[in-house]
Amino acid sequence: MKEIIDVKLKTRTVDFGKYKTDLLAVGVFSDVKELDRLVRELNTKLGGAIEQLIKLGDFKGKEGSSAIVYDNERTGAKRILLVGLGEKKKATLDTVHKAAAHAAKKAVAMQIKTVGLALHRAFGARFDLTVMGRVMAEGTYFGSYRYDEFVTEKEDGRLGSLSVELIDCDSARTRKLNKGLSSGAIIGKAQSYARTIANRPGNVIDPPALAAEAKKLARGTAGLSCTVLDKKQLAAKGMGGVLAVGSGSQSEPRFIVLKYKGTNRRTPVGLVGKAITFDSGGISIKPSAKMEQMKLDKSGGIAVLGTMKAVAELKLPISVYGVIPSAENMPGGSSYRPGDIITTFSGKTVEVQNTDAEGRMVLCDGLSYAEKENCDPIIDIATLTGACRVALGKYMAGLMSNDEKLTKQMQKAADESGEKVWPMPSGDEYASEMKSKIADLKNIGSNWGGACTAAAFLRQFVGDKKWAHVDMASVELLEKATEFSTEGASGFGVRLLTTYLMNLVK
Ligand code: BES
Ligand code: MN
Ligand code: ZN
Repeated sequence: MKEIIDVKLKTRTVDFGKYKTDLLAVGVFSDVKELDRLVRELNTKLGGAIEQLIKLGDFKGKEGSSAIVYDNERTGAKRILLVGLGEKKKATLDTVHKAAAHAAKKAVAMQIKTVGLALHRAFGARFDLTVMGRVMAEGTYFGSYRYDEFVTEKEDGRLGSLSVELIDCDSARTRKLNKGLSSGAIIGKAQSYARTIANRPGNVIDPPALAAEAKKLARGTAGLSCTVLDKKQLAAKGMGGVLAVGSGSQSEPRFIVLKYKGTNRRTPVGLVGKAITFDSGGISIKPSAKMEQMKLDKSGGIAVLGTMKAVAELKLPISVYGVIPSAENMPGGSSYRPGDIITTFSGKTVEVQNTDAEGRMVLCDGLSYAEKENCDPIIDIATLTGACRVALGKYMAGLMSNDEKLTKQMQKAADESGEKVWPMPSGDEYASEMKSKIADLKNIGSNWGGACTAAAFLRQFVGDKKWAHVDMASVELLEKATEFSTEGASGFGVRLLTTYLMNLVK
């Protein structure tokens, strides 16, 4: 795939006062009175210009804010970007990610070609430098990302590529940053890839096109293999859930399996992602307002796709299977209907009471597949319920699980990646709402706790395997551009899942 903006990333050991760049980005906390050493040095070179700016109150170091100081040829940098980091005591790795993203976004907006990032300096010894290198690299990709592949009439052109250097004056420190940069660049790139595939609309990415994209990814990535089941094969295997959801569309459903085999002998981790390329609701059709956002209903599957790319490029020693059931949910003469009873891949039967609860219908087949392949743990990720959006808002995803240790591991990965999750229940009370009188299960519960009843449904398809479910129906979309990103698909899940997998190896 043609990269939307080609980001070139490396590290360099430099003399800060002489370092040549178009934009040198440094961090400033809002509540630290003393400037840190690097900023102090720059300030002296600039004859007190930075101090002046802060004294006048033009820049307060708030998160999301920044100020540019022009250097007047007194250092090697044409511009110095002061990036606000907020309160020091509240700083997390997400602060680092956001600061790098902010600087990269500014550079792209200003059509600046070379950037030096010294954002880590302000944090002192707070975080490991290797981790900071990784997070700054990820943030650089995140902030510089644009989606404009279908814009033919561009107003004022834009950058084709951006060169970013993570810099420090101490070579031992630079080496540590560089170690993190290599993995961060892989993860950042995988996330941008995910964002682009997710941003593509339903007429461009339907299930066969998504399957072709997965095949293409596997062909171009060492260690990754891909098999795709078409409609006939789905019927032969008895994957009734995926078939039912896909039955109303002119585009046939596909069941995509990516396999990465690591060198160790652990059972593979199963990642299962919902990939509804467009969710109209089907016969239980959705209201028309904002229905266009339902092109993003494939985001869970694409998070799995992007994670598989990252895992293979990182050459992790564990085995990971990426399972992506894909269908388009449309109303039509051949659609599945409310009242239908579907036999799923597991053998369990499901009474359909709402065709808009289609995610769980495709995921149950994906989960059973991962279970039969002996994956353990199994983690699914999906834009599953509007109820989760109501419960958590747009800042974090819901996390349900049948295993406490796995919950903790996922929460740790969330904290480290900045892709947040919040624990929610999915136990027997919720499962009891999913019982049908005329089949084993039904596909909707009562009016309340919809995210939890959906998870309680899924939980019944993993046998005795450890399982976690990420309901990302609040975080797949950035409705408006922020100080850290353009609008559109967020690529949520790539960083969370990859960080989780990297931590398993440590
Ligand atoms: N894809 C939707 C969930 C969704 C809603 C994602 C809003 C992103 C934003 C899912 O397939 C759906 O329609 N869920 C229904 C379930 C209901 C019928 C039980 C919902 O949440 O309304
Ligand atoms: Mn739906
Ligand atoms: Zn859906």
